[in-house]
Amino acid sequence: MPHLEIVNVSKSYMRRNGEPVKALSGVSLSLEKGEFVSIVGPSGCGKTTLFDIIAGLTQPDSGAIFVNGHDRTGQTGYVSYMPQEDLLLPWRTTLENAMLAPELNRSAVQETRIEARRLIDLFGLSGFEDSYPFELSGGMRQRVALLRTVMCRKDIMLLDEPFGALDAITRHQMQAWLRLVWERLRTTVLFVTHDVEEAIYLSDRVYVMSPRPGRIVCQYSVPFGPDRSGIGWSGSIISAPEFVALRAQVMEALASI
Ligand SMILES: Nc1ncnc2c1ncn2[C@@H]1O[C@H](COP(=O)(O)OP(=O)(O)O)[C@@H](O)[C@H]1O
Ligand SMILES: [Mg+2]
Repeated sequence: MPHLEIVNVSKSYMRRNGEPVKALSGVSLSLEKGEFVSIVGPSGCGKTTLFDIIAGLTQPDSGAIFVNGHDRTGQTGYVSYMPQEDLLLPWRTTLENAMLAPELNRSAVQETRIEARRLIDLFGLSGFEDSYPFELSGGMRQRVALLRTVMCRKDIMLLDEPFGALDAITRHQMQAWLRLVWERLRTTVLFVTHDVEEAIYLSDRVYVMSPRPGRIVCQYSVPFGPDRSGIGWSGSIISAPEFVALRAQVMEALASI
C-alpha cells in the first residue's frame, strides 16, 4: 500500500471577475514509505495548489488524498508542510521557531526540546540556537524552516521549492545537505521544484507536470542508489552519463508539453 496516494485531483479557482481558472486537472501520483519523490513543473502549473490540497488546507473539486490507505481529503495533521515562503517568526529565535509545532500541539515540550537541540547540530545551526531570523543567512533561514518542518514529526514531508530564493552556490550546498539529512531521517518526501537538476540529484523518482492546468505527464526513476550524499555536487554524480541522459530526457519532456 502506498504511503501517500493522490487520486485524480482537480481544482479550479474563481477569478474576481467570476471567470474560473483551472489549476489542476486529474493529478494522480503515489509515494512508497521512505521514498524521496520530486515534481518538476513550470511556474504557475499548480504545484503549490497541489501541496495545499495534500496538506488539507484547500479542498479539491474532485479526487482524493489517501495516507496509508485512509481517505484524508480535506483533513489537516497528516503531513509536515514547508511552504514556499520563509515563514519564520521574526520575534522567535532558531530554537523557538523549531519548537513552534510541538508548543502548539502541547506535545511533550521538554522531550522535543531535547530532540530539537540534537537536530540543530545535524542542521548545521550549532551556535545559532538563540539567534533571530534577521541574524541568519538565507541558507540558514531555510535550514531553520526545514528543522521546524521536521519538528512537526509527521512521517510525510512536503517541501515547496525550499531553495528557490537562494544563490547557486548556497543552493548546491543545501541540496547536498538535504540529501544527507534525508539519508539519516528516511521520511517520505514530496519535493516541488522547477529545477530539473535539483529534482534528479535529490530524488528516487521524478514526476513531470504540464503547464496550467497541471497534470502529470510522465515519470522517471533515477538510476542512483539511496546513499549518494557522500558524492556531493563536485563529485561524479551530475557528470555521470546516466545523470546527463536523464536530465536531457526530462528537459525534453518539459519542452514538448
Ligand atoms: N487563491 C487563488 N485564487 C485564484 N487563483 C489562484 C489562487 N492560487 C493560485 N491561483 C492560480 O492557480 C495557478 C496555479 O498556482 P500555484 O499553485 O501557485 O502554481 P505553482 O506553485 O506551480 O507556481 C496560477 O495560475 C495561479 O495564478
Ligand atoms: Mg508555487
